Amino acid sequence: MGKLRDKFGREINYLRISVTDRCNLRCVYCMPKEGIMHKPHQEILSFEQIYKLVKVAAGLGIEKVRITGGEPLVRKDLPLLIEQLKTIGGLKEIALTTNGINLAEYAFILRKSGLDRINVSLDSLNADKFQEITRGGSLKVVLRGIDSALDAGFSFLKINTVLLKGFNSDEILSFAGLTKDRPINVRFIEYMPTDFNYFSYNELFFSAQEAKALCCGLGELKPLDSAHGATARIFRLEGFSGSLGFISAVSQPFCSSCNKLRLTSDGRIRNCLHSSRTLNLKALLDRNAQEEELGQLIKEAVFLKPRAHNLAERSGLAHASLDSESENFSMCQIGG
Ligand code: 5AD
Ligand code: SF4
Repeated sequence: MGKLRDKFGREINYLRISVTDRCNLRCVYCMPKEGIMHKPHQEILSFEQIYKLVKVAAGLGIEKVRITGGEPLVRKDLPLLIEQLKTIGGLKEIALTTNGINLAEYAFILRKSGLDRINVSLDSLNADKFQEITRGGSLKVVLRGIDSALDAGFSFLKINTVLLKGFNSDEILSFAGLTKDRPINVRFIEYMPTDFNYFSYNELFFSAQEAKALCCGLGELKPLDSAHGATARIFRLEGFSGSLGFISAVSQPFCSSCNKLRLTSDGRIRNCLHSSRTLNLKALLDRNAQEEELGQLIKEAVFLKPRAHNLAERSGLAHASLDSESENFSMCQIGG
């Protein structure tokens, strides 16, 4: 199998696939209260179409796939898709990012389907605050989902926590505490500017570095090796079973080691989370294009991948920026 390389020499081996733009939560920083306009069913990629293009992508050098949304577990029969993707030669790992609401119901079925890893998004460990930020979600249900995933054998489960000053910045040590007895990797993610947080963004931003400094209060942070292309800097607290990750997406971008492509639920390849330029694979799939043609478009997306984003500049947080063009977006449409 070949390797996919972009014009800056980065090896692209990771594809994030949004399987739906729907979600069963309404996180305040992601969606307006009334939700977003959903794409009609016929505009969303079918499982057959996703399978076809993952097969082509794997032939080109994609080794890891992550299923995202919206909320991927609201897509009917998702485990069937995972089962199908598992049969593709060359794919080494299939992961899922979920908000955890339907996880208790699905954990064992997902394990059986061959899913390798799960990330759960969780922004508060306080039931009232959780309900507030998700506009109605139940913390208890998500915690039950996490337990089920561990019971089902998903070890090294990841929890993704978006850092929000004055909202959960006082919960950082509680989140770190989750890693004491269980093999959980809690990852603190810097809040990124999107379509829906334009006005409150600067007041809410809290850096990963500040979070790390707070965690040091619990003991010595031992650095662990990160995989190639990893976005998180990972540490273990002395005597803890799990680990802590710090993702400085805004303050210290990791664009130079980016290994990702994204596929939106309506079949567009997005070569950078922050770039509005997309390439339409769905149009090719709808007219039953040959694998070769699909492969060409994927290679073109890789070729056009920008060198870096300019989030820090756009959010007014920092200085220099490189040559990329970018645009606002909503995370629920792209899947983070
Ligand atoms: N900044 C950082 N992360 C975000 N997510 C959604 N919006 C933002 C944002 N503005 C996260 C969700 C979830 C993942 C899919 O993306 O919390 O973990
Ligand atoms: Fe749903 Fe995730 Fe957006 Fe929350 S952040 S509304 S869980 S897609």
